Amino acid sequence: MSELGPAAPGQMDGIYPQVLGADSEAGQKFARATQLISAREVDRAVDQMAVRITVALQDKNPVVVTVLQGGLVCAGMLMRRLIFPLQQGYVHVGRYGDATRGGKLEWLARACPPLQNRHVLLVDDILDQGHTLQALLDWAGAEGAASVQSCVLVNKVLEQTVPRPKVDFVGLSAPDKFLVGCGMDYLGYGRNLPGIYAIED
Ligand code: IMP
Ligand code: MG
Repeated sequence: MSELGPAAPGQMDGIYPQVLGADSEAGQKFARATQLISAREVDRAVDQMAVRITVALQDKNPVVVTVLQGGLVCAGMLMRRLIFPLQQGYVHVGRYGDATRGGKLEWLARACPPLQNRHVLLVDDILDQGHTLQALLDWAGAEGAASVQSCVLVNKVLEQTVPRPKVDFVGLSAPDKFLVGCGMDYLGYGRNLPGIYAIED
C-alpha cells in the first residue's frame, strides 16, 4: 500500500464524526480529511532535520525555543534526536484562533532561559505567511541572542509569493491547503495525528 494517498477508510471518517458529532464542523471536516504525508515520511524528515541541526549547533550550547502550541510535536520529535548539550524554552503565540485564516499575532506566555549571547533555535510546526516566525526572530534578536536560527516541520508552498523570513531547517513541503497533524490543528483537534492531512475549505 502506498504511504501517500487518502486516509484509510475508518481512520478519520469513523471516530471523528462519531465522537465530535456528524453535524459538527470538526466532525465533518475530519471525516473528509485527506492524508498528504504519512507518519513514516514525517519521521524520516525529522531524522534528516536533526542531523542538519546537530551539524550546525552541537558545539554551540543553544537554547531551543518551542513555539507553542503547534511546534510542540516537532520539538518533541527533535528532542529525542538532538543529544548534544542544549537548553529549552517556549513561547506560546497564536495567530489563527479557531479559524483557518491568519489573524493578529497574540503573545500568550513565554518561559525561556535568558537569550542574551546565546545561540537560539526557534521550532514551529509550519511556515505559512511567515508573520509568526518574523515576529519571533525579531523578539529573539531584541533579547540579545548571539544568533537566531529557525526550524519548521512543514514549509507551506504558497500559491502567491509573499516575502517570508528565511528558515534554516525545513522538514517537509506541503501544498497551500489547511493542514492538520503533527502539531497542527483545526478547532483544536488533530495536533496528535502522526501524519499530515489536508482539510477542505
Ligand atoms: P504564519 O505566521 O502565516 O507563517 O503562520 C504560522 C502559524 O500559523 C503556525 O505557527 C501555525 O500555528 C499556524 N498555521 C499556519 N498554517 C496552518 C495550517 O495549515 N494548519 C494549522 N495551523 C497553521
Ligand atoms: Mg503556531
